[in-house]
Amino acid sequence: MLENAILVTGAGRRIGYHIAKRLHEDGQNVIAHYRTHTDQIQALADLGVKTIQADLANSPAILDFVQALKSQCTNLRGVIHNASSFEPTSANLEEAAQQYEQFFYIHMMAPFLINQGLQSILKGEGDDPADIIHITDINVENPTPDFDVYGTTKAGLHNMTLALAKKYAPSIKVNAVAPGPVLFTDLHSEETKNRMLAETPLAREGGAEPVYLAVKSLLDNPFITGVSLPVDGGRRLSKR
Ligand SMILES: NC(=O)c1ccc[n+]([C@@H]2O[C@H](COP(=O)([O-])OP(=O)(O)OC[C@H]3O[C@@H](n4cnc5c(N)ncnc54)[C@H](OP(=O)(O)O)[C@@H]3O)[C@@H](O)[C@H]2O)c1
Repeated sequence: MLENAILVTGAGRRIGYHIAKRLHEDGQNVIAHYRTHTDQIQALADLGVKTIQADLANSPAILDFVQALKSQCTNLRGVIHNASSFEPTSANLEEAAQQYEQFFYIHMMAPFLINQGLQSILKGEGDDPADIIHITDINVENPTPDFDVYGTTKAGLHNMTLALAKKYAPSIKVNAVAPGPVLFTDLHSEETKNRMLAETPLAREGGAEPVYLAVKSLLDNPFITGVSLPVDGGRRLSKR
């Protein structure tokens, strides 16, 4: 049975992988959740990180995942909800409805059921509270219209941060980290990247490490709950 572990969802690539690897390097017990088995998940497993597969696309699958975790963990030190889907809203209404359902499950239902299901085994060190950290997006406060379904469901996750910070106090802190342009995807054209960077006061793509540093600062601080920490190079101030 694992003790005092930190669960990272969507750890098979990019930011989730980076957070899981850096937590492991910092000496934490990490459980790396993934949907698709990737070279990075194999690399984490080779380091001795516990890995667990689940597609968090519907309630029964999410509840099975919660049960699997409970059967393997005496307690958990924290949960980092990083798993996410990202794409512009389809102009086709039937496709948009499917996107809404997909984004709702990964951004809202999965975090809610995982948090509720694991609440009883989330324990901090000593007198300190345990941690739940939701990875949201600066879009939750200043939305991008083309990504309204993505942004709406991330905004639900932002609101859940505030609600659960009240609900789970004093034994669990609940905070959000809200990235801006940290790692571009194939969806970003050169023109879009240049526009986004021009709107970013710190004028660069931030990378995964600043997201990890924000997560770590929240894990390390026992007296912060119900906040959203932007990691965006200031883009929220100037984003159109
Ligand atoms: N990248 C940025 O600049 C940026 C900006 C703002 C916010 N963020 C936020 O930061 C976080 C990480 O971003 P990223 O760019 O690294 O994300 P990403 O590349 O899209 O990775 C998302 C991860 O979530 C997993 N996932 C998606 N749907 C799932 C499902 N139904 N069940 C289980 N796992 C699922 C994916 O697994 P598969 O490999 O199987 O698809 C993948 O490992 C996300 O929450 C994102 O919204 C990122």
